[in-house]
Amino acid sequence: MIDTTQKPILILGGTGKTGRRLAERLTAKSIPVRIGSRAGTPSFDWLDKGSWDAALEGVGAVYISYYPDIAVPGAAETVEALARLAVERGIKRLVLLSGRGETEAQRAEEMLKASGADWTILRCSWFSQNFSEGFLVENIIEGEVGLPVGAVGEPFVDADDIADVAETVLTEPGHVGQLYELTGPRLLSFAEAVAEIGKAAGRDIRFRQISHAEFTEAVAAHNLPPEFAWLLDELFTKVLDGRNETLTDGVQRALGRQPKDFFAYATETAASGIWSN
Ligand SMILES: NC(=O)c1ccc[n+]([C@@H]2O[C@H](COP(=O)([O-])OP(=O)(O)OC[C@H]3O[C@@H](n4cnc5c(N)ncnc54)[C@H](OP(=O)(O)O)[C@@H]3O)[C@@H](O)[C@H]2O)c1
Repeated sequence: MIDTTQKPILILGGTGKTGRRLAERLTAKSIPVRIGSRAGTPSFDWLDKGSWDAALEGVGAVYISYYPDIAVPGAAETVEALARLAVERGIKRLVLLSGRGETEAQRAEEMLKASGADWTILRCSWFSQNFSEGFLVENIIEGEVGLPVGAVGEPFVDADDIADVAETVLTEPGHVGQLYELTGPRLLSFAEAVAEIGKAAGRDIRFRQISHAEFTEAVAAHNLPPEFAWLLDELFTKVLDGRNETLTDGVQRALGRQPKDFFAYATETAASGIWSN
């Protein structure tokens, strides 16, 4: 069994959607964690390889959540460099947060497998939390979501489920060399997801399918960094073409229970008041 009880687990993206939840879970079990982010101590920055060694110093395992997105060109090489450095330093237990149906994400997975690591891959669908902790939260609060996507179904997965799986694979034996494809239990179009949020929040929140040109204009108006604008375009115009319109049993396989339904997420999140305008 891998000994992760003494040395801390380095959680890259440890203040983000899944990393923060994983850190909470491990800390509750008295397992030491080190937050790997620019605000962490020591600071970890994907853009500054000089910061990687100090973050890896003395840790027993690493949860790799890449930023800004594993679908961005070049992400695979950067994740590979980190994985190889960790293995060189004797840190073999690496868990990668990946994405579905994305060329770059699948390249990163293959590179991780070839790095000599004791790997586990969590290949995830869209997080439900994109509507509450991600780029769609403002639109939800404003009451209208406009996206260049039609009736395609996405099996939104809850970040709590991803964190539960990450905690399990990092603390229990039997998960090395496993790829878990994690989806929620139901396919929903973006229009249906927004309608469920509206119902849960008791508010009228409209969904509007917009043209690609309108979307590009809206993204430009927000002054987003170029890689983020590229990413949204890639996700909405290429990846959301129906290739991911399937449910998988990754959560059931890893945890022995059903994943959280989107309406349960919407109800809990509405109760937190985050969507109240
Ligand atoms: N969101 C989805 O639906 C989804 C679906 C499938 C896969 N994924 C994958 O999941 C990963 C995380 O995505 P997310 O949307 O959940 O983001 P996130 O984890 O919420 O991103 C924020 C985290 O990244 C850290 N960060 C930002 N810039 C950084 C930098 N230059 N160096 C080091 N850390 C940095 C932030 O901490 P600091 O600000 O302190 O640095 C924070 O901890 C991505 O690789 C994405 O491809 C996401």
